[in-house]
Amino acid sequence: MPSARWAYVNGQYVPHALARIHVEDRGLQFADSVYEVCAIVDGLMMDEEEHLDRLERSLRELAIPMPMGRAPLKLVLREMVRRNALRHGLIYLQVTRGTARRDHAAPSDLRPSLILTARPVDPVLLERRRQLGVKAISHPDERWARCDIKSTALLPNTLAKTAARRQGAFEAILVDGDGYVTEGASTNVWIVTKDGEIVTRNLSHNILPGVTRRVILEAAAEAQMRISERKFTLEEAKSAREIFLTAATLGATSVVELDGRPIGNQRPGQISQRIQTLYADLAGRRAVRLLPSSN
Ligand SMILES: Cc1ncc(COP(=O)(O)O)c(C=O)c1O
Repeated sequence: MPSARWAYVNGQYVPHALARIHVEDRGLQFADSVYEVCAIVDGLMMDEEEHLDRLERSLRELAIPMPMGRAPLKLVLREMVRRNALRHGLIYLQVTRGTARRDHAAPSDLRPSLILTARPVDPVLLERRRQLGVKAISHPDERWARCDIKSTALLPNTLAKTAARRQGAFEAILVDGDGYVTEGASTNVWIVTKDGEIVTRNLSHNILPGVTRRVILEAAAEAQMRISERKFTLEEAKSAREIFLTAATLGATSVVELDGRPIGNQRPGQISQRIQTLYADLAGRRAVRLLPSSN
């Protein structure tokens, strides 16, 4: 029997369909809020500490207090997985600056709002997407200057992703004014050059420090693979041997077509697949088991 869907809003677990937030919440009115998305893979919570580290950093950068301590927040995450019987899925967590009479200037004494939702993911579809690879388009990067903060101000990202979907592609690869790839609308972007160099853009205010990116860098170092963190152009990407995208929602997933041009032999490349295996191994070893495995 499908279990009921539960959300968490400011201290209470509520049926998903009844979950509500105030009309003058600053997250709603100004995107004055940050978020995280954690994957649950076969009952394992992946990269939990890394997501909480980034959440704390995003909040610190915006001077929003943590809505509760890290230990109680972990209990809420676990309870959400348990109540939603989420063996394969995503937990979405959002912290807003709080509710106040609408005014651009934020009062200093607000209590942050905390919202969590859960969504199942079909592991078969996820695996099929990895096996087949995805199409991508390029799109101008029209975002603000602090993309390192995981804020919910995602309008340029949603417009780019919508443009991609309308053109039958899965992701929009964002390109800055100088022709360099920054990242995807909701992914980090990697290429494997013709000489086998694995490249992803170096961290700066221009890209999100992806959790999956970080764990992959660690896994690749453990496996003595060499990766360069540097800028690369859209043209370099188009002539690459492989391109892949990383995100908590995807792991490492190959791009087999960019702007209608085939990449490699139009099938997921060997290095991208090896990276996915290394990531799943390392993250899986560290993950917290919250529900029994289905195997
Ligand atoms: C703009 C952007 N870049 C990269 C990522 C990948 O980050 P992570 O690996 O932490 O999911 C995301 C994920 O949502 C994103 O929105």
